Amino acid sequence: MKGIVLSGGSATRLRPCTKVTSKQLLPVYNRPMIYYPLNTLIKAGIKDILIIVSPEQAGHYLNLLGSGKEMGVKFTYEIQDKPEGLAQAFLIGQNFIDEDSVCMILGDNIFEDDFSEDIKNFESGAKVFAKEVSDPKRFGVVEFDENKKAISIEEKPQNPKSNYCVTGLYVYDNKVVDIARNLKPSPRGELEITDVNKIYLEKGELDVAMVSGAWVDAGTFDSLLEAQILAKNKLQDKMVI
Ligand code: G1P
Repeated sequence: MKGIVLSGGSATRLRPCTKVTSKQLLPVYNRPMIYYPLNTLIKAGIKDILIIVSPEQAGHYLNLLGSGKEMGVKFTYEIQDKPEGLAQAFLIGQNFIDEDSVCMILGDNIFEDDFSEDIKNFESGAKVFAKEVSDPKRFGVVEFDENKKAISIEEKPQNPKSNYCVTGLYVYDNKVVDIARNLKPSPRGELEITDVNKIYLEKGELDVAMVSGAWVDAGTFDSLLEAQILAKNKLQDKMVI
């Protein structure tokens, strides 16, 4: 299993804090934000990790994280020239992924859970992780039937069909590279991860698990503050980096 941390984007919602640095390098309590998603992958046993960054801050990431040797892993870096969608990561990373499965985490997603078992036991198809939230319109939203089986997924819907959002941790088999290759940009001009998940759902190959611990997408000032508090109160003893 290869790992990808997608750490691109221009984070306009966090201006001026992100005017001269990247959102995922901002402090979350006592570590740069990206340490938390990296910790999630490393704790789950993933050792070969591609970090996708925006061109402006590539040097900062390299200075901060280096080869990965100090953390007992190997980092590879790629640039996402423009924020053209989460699913673009599988095109940027196709040589890196090669013939393996891949676990992608978003550089601003902070989880309390340990996903080692999910990642070790993954065989094929796709696995995503859902969490009940009060503001589903901000996210990809998954709807379940009475047997808790996922029946639809929509990206940032105006009228969400449930309060369950798809969090920023995704596990895919190698088919994801071909799926990403055939995606068309959405009306907002992005290759949507939700479209990838919809394709797996249509094939009956999407497994949706629940996130049981805390989870924060630290993309707004309020959620960044929430992430800081979570990191201070609950994550310190869970960090291996
Ligand atoms: C992205 C995805 C969305 C997902 C969210 C999780 O949204 O498009 O489906 O629910 O990450 O953090 P973004 O944060 O890029 O707006």
